[in-house]
Amino acid sequence: MRWPAARMQSQQSKGFGMYEIAARLRSEGRDVIQLSVGSPFYDTPLHIKAAAKAALDAGVVHYGDLQGTETLRRALAERYRVRYGVNYGAGEILITNGVTQASFAAFMAALDVGDEVILLDPFYPQHISKIELAGARVVAVPMRLEQRTFRLDARAVEAAVTRATRMIVLINPANPTGTVFTRHELEQLAAIVRRHDLLVLSDEVYEFITFDGRTHTCFASLPGMKEHTITVSAFTKAYAMDGWRIGYAAAPPHIIADLRRITLNSTTHPCVFAQEGALAAVRESQDCVRAMVEEDARRRDLVVEALNSMPGVSCGTPEGTIYAFADFSSLGRSSIELSRQILESAHVALESGAFYGKRGEGYLRICFGAESYERLAEGMHRLGAWVAAQEKA
Ligand SMILES: Cc1ncc(COP(=O)(O)O)c(C=O)c1O
Repeated sequence: MRWPAARMQSQQSKGFGMYEIAARLRSEGRDVIQLSVGSPFYDTPLHIKAAAKAALDAGVVHYGDLQGTETLRRALAERYRVRYGVNYGAGEILITNGVTQASFAAFMAALDVGDEVILLDPFYPQHISKIELAGARVVAVPMRLEQRTFRLDARAVEAAVTRATRMIVLINPANPTGTVFTRHELEQLAAIVRRHDLLVLSDEVYEFITFDGRTHTCFASLPGMKEHTITVSAFTKAYAMDGWRIGYAAAPPHIIADLRRITLNSTTHPCVFAQEGALAAVRESQDCVRAMVEEDARRRDLVVEALNSMPGVSCGTPEGTIYAFADFSSLGRSSIELSRQILESAHVALESGAFYGKRGEGYLRICFGAESYERLAEGMHRLGAWVAAQEKA
């Protein structure tokens, strides 16, 4: 018996076993503060749950529209029009099981063996395994640091374009760096896309989580970019709906038709009553999102201030997302070593910066959205004490 298929030889991105270490420590009765996984601390807002419950009670339990319910697609199309001025029709939206399935479908439908995909490093590593499953190759282009914030290096991106380049993956706002790309940066990227006739996968899952009055620019809203872009987003982060698994892709109709062939052959469509909850999330008041983002900003400030008060640690202020990306390089250890030592000794789970690409070496990613304010403060206290002890040692 031959096992497995050749495509399984691809380099799947892997964590560094932090999850396993944290699970072991917990099973030993240790109190581990979880600042590594980007799962929102909040519960899903009540009106969203109520809508899903009502749908269940009303018998919304059968197979539905293969592209996702039309009401939800219309509501999303309307939001794209009002919020960003992008005219997606309901037929240009595909409801998926989170951004994960939307991006998987996009990579599978777009990429051929030998194609190259440019990722901005540090990147979201889960995109890599999908690109490689599709048979394509990742080309990591380092971002540049400007006042402790990682920014687009347009020249480096253009220099990385070859005849094999098919796609650029943009994550905006960016995980893990917390960057909210400016319109100017996105225009620079758009110029490259236009010059080389490329496709962009724009992962905008954190589109609603921006701080200090910053606004999110939808990449497809830039002149001429709708035709070149697959926008993917989800209810995951802003509405604390990560377990609901409702996301979407938006793109011109011929692209959506091909993405649909992929989703059709994997999951048909996402859960119908969960889509009714998502519909309530789009249609009803956005006060819940504003309240959560305000609270996220408070947590961000706590974390950034704490990190910058630790000897040798430096952290820029995240402009969006729920992550701080802090430079620990002065401690003279690899980021995987650092994260393991911090977990084992201080019982604080953080993510190694190297997990997010070479550019992330020396950094640690701290999720400030996954624990209560008090637990976060305790986590920072433990981390500060650990860092201080390294200085003395
Ligand atoms: C940049 C990015 N894309 C996609 C995802 C996954 O989104 P979903 O849970 O909607 O599949 C995450 C989750 O952390 C993320 O950070």
